[in-house]
Amino acid sequence: MAIRVEDLRETLEQYGQEHVLRFWDNLTAEERGVLQESVATVDFPLMARLIDEWIHNEPSAEHFSCIDPVDVIPEPDMSHGDTVEAFETGEVRLAEGRVGVIMVAGGQGTRLGFDGPKGAYPVGSITGKSLFQYHAEKILNLERRYRCILPWYIMVSGANEAATREFFEANQYFGLGRENVYFFQQDMVPCVDEHGRFMLEEPCRLAKSPNGHGGCIPALAERGVIADCHARGIDTLTYFQVDNWAVQVADPVFIGYHVRQGSEMSSKVRRKTELREPVGVHCLCDGQYRLIEYSELDFYPQLLEVDARGNPVHFAGNPAMHVFSVPFIERVYANYQQFPWHRAHKKIPHVDSAGNYVRPDGPNGYKFETFIFDALQFVERAPVNLELRAMGEYTPIKQFEGAGSVLEARDHMRRHWGAWLVEAGAPVPKDAEGYPPFDVEISPAYALSKEEFVLKSHGRHWPAINGPIAIGAGGEISWAEANASA
Ligand code: UD1
Repeated sequence: MAIRVEDLRETLEQYGQEHVLRFWDNLTAEERGVLQESVATVDFPLMARLIDEWIHNEPSAEHFSCIDPVDVIPEPDMSHGDTVEAFETGEVRLAEGRVGVIMVAGGQGTRLGFDGPKGAYPVGSITGKSLFQYHAEKILNLERRYRCILPWYIMVSGANEAATREFFEANQYFGLGRENVYFFQQDMVPCVDEHGRFMLEEPCRLAKSPNGHGGCIPALAERGVIADCHARGIDTLTYFQVDNWAVQVADPVFIGYHVRQGSEMSSKVRRKTELREPVGVHCLCDGQYRLIEYSELDFYPQLLEVDARGNPVHFAGNPAMHVFSVPFIERVYANYQQFPWHRAHKKIPHVDSAGNYVRPDGPNGYKFETFIFDALQFVERAPVNLELRAMGEYTPIKQFEGAGSVLEARDHMRRHWGAWLVEAGAPVPKDAEGYPPFDVEISPAYALSKEEFVLKSHGRHWPAINGPIAIGAGGEISWAEANASA
């Protein structure tokens, strides 16, 4: 039932936001309904607190007297007993059907400049396969191997839910079964101007932005995911970001370390080689586990120290991959009032007081977000920090070219998958580093690791390979157009 405008006006006045109704008299009945809905879903007490803390007062950086590096388990190596034991423990948990997969895909992906959900981006240069499809094929492989269902919980936002659902529908859920793919929406929060006033995106709509990937904590609890986990007997949730093409979804080794240590929240870490890499850093701040975001490094000069060889002392970079225990998520949710918020100064298109649409050239307002890694502050048991494999685990896609880009990711995967072809004895030319000098794609539904690929290639008669090549889910070969006649 629509909220009465008198009530809305009263609430807005109480919080100093009455300007939101300034175009009311000129709105159609339908537009009024849109505005009522847009305002009715605002958490006013929360917004008042954020505006007070972040806009009316300039918060100072937290002070820590002591920042120590975290313990890190080195890159997994199957010739080590520890890794093998972790792998076996993880395999058992998967086979018992106790694992679910969370993927956060609610971000706006503005840096990539792609008109659609980021996961729909056709990242495969030969096949045109999307990020979503790649992740789905990894899940298919694991389900087949462990004879289990790995429910896929996908966090979307109001801005991309419809398009994401349509994409999955059009692709028949990539064979995973509609009942095992669960979309859940994160909340949106109003954007505010430099004075803490709500901004309007249109005369009848507030400008809002997703509440950050930390928003998955309340969304998991409130949108039925935790209940679904209980119904399915799932107690372990793995977590990754949609933009990481190479991510090892539900990695048994990672799950195994998490389980064996009795950890509540575990993280993969990536060894930083450059001090200024745009990745957050895991550390112990006055004895509390924390992740300091790369944008805040300058507040903590200790995090910029180097050792005798010039390498960062605090090398535990954040590739945004975690494992959570379900009871831990429930506990963080129960204490969500204490979850920290962050503020980002952004360009926010809006309607000004005269009703003109404004596309600002520079930052003109603030978005508020929570970050999932702040859940570390709630752990009661030491978390696992596991170093990821240098190849084939981390290719974040933030933009088309440059650092953290589509082109960089394709080059990484060319070397990663190209090495599998070489190892399997396929007749491929090699560049100076020993990799094929053209793009290679291998369907994760066919093989998730070099070992699996080599095993499946045993006795295979390869054709001459002179250009970009893709291996499909059944092991079939397809070529890039340019190579078709070769
Ligand atoms: C992020 C991490 C950084 C890490 C790096 C690794 C943050 C704040 N920082 O940086 O510590 O080292 O990735 O690649 O996350 N998302 C949502 N909802 C939101 C906001 C984001 O689902 O409201 C999702 C996005 O779809 C994306 C992911 O979270 O998959 C990361 O968001 P992004 O803004 O790209 O973070 P980065 O600045 O790249």
